[in-house]
Amino acid sequence: MTPDPISKIEMTPDPNHRLAVLISGRGTNLQSLIDATRDTRLDATIAVVISNRADAGGLERARRAGIETLVLDHRGWPSREDYDRAIVRELQARDVRLICLAGFMRRFSDVMLEAFPNAILNIHPSLLPAFPGLHPHQQALEHGVKVSGVTVHLVTSDLDAGPIIVQRSVPVHADDTPDTLAARILVEEHKAYPEAVSIVLAGGWRVDGRRFVRSTTDAGV
Ligand code: GRF
Repeated sequence: MTPDPISKIEMTPDPNHRLAVLISGRGTNLQSLIDATRDTRLDATIAVVISNRADAGGLERARRAGIETLVLDHRGWPSREDYDRAIVRELQARDVRLICLAGFMRRFSDVMLEAFPNAILNIHPSLLPAFPGLHPHQQALEHGVKVSGVTVHLVTSDLDAGPIIVQRSVPVHADDTPDTLAARILVEEHKAYPEAVSIVLAGGWRVDGRRFVRSTTDAGV
């Protein structure tokens, strides 16, 4: 497999740490990012929060934090590409450099991926590559794994398959339900996302094939 040329580019620190967070729901991960920007964990500004749903609870969290919100309902555009073009326009207008998907329930076309190469992050509540897609907690329980967790990764055109930036694990208990497992993982999500964003913003990393490699630590985490 020939790696994409972009993957050879060494990412350097970008002093303009303007983020967008994209949501569709309650926004607890958005909240963890807001909280991290308010203490020393994350040196960044959340320039805008975008939701494809007007009823997303996370919009209120953003408003309370004084962050601009935007509702772009995907049903208002004729195609995925048109919708993505609208999002790209809004992000570029605000000079956003990094996009964090936090429970955003839409897949992107190449329009978005090409406008922001290696600059879109997603959080998924399983230890990828195990249990991508919908209902990861249910999938984990049905499979009988003893450990699960969270993955923050770069977004590529393959669902939940981009280079892994951070993972954190939790035990799976014999009497877990999808809800109890989700709650245990969520605690780790709220640590993992600010950590991953901070790593990406610090620069000094590259994508090597499917691996996210930090050259500064050479630890490959
Ligand atoms: C989280 O479990 C996240 O990993 C997944 O969607 C959920 C969003 O939760 N992608 P919240 O809206 O951040 O509370």
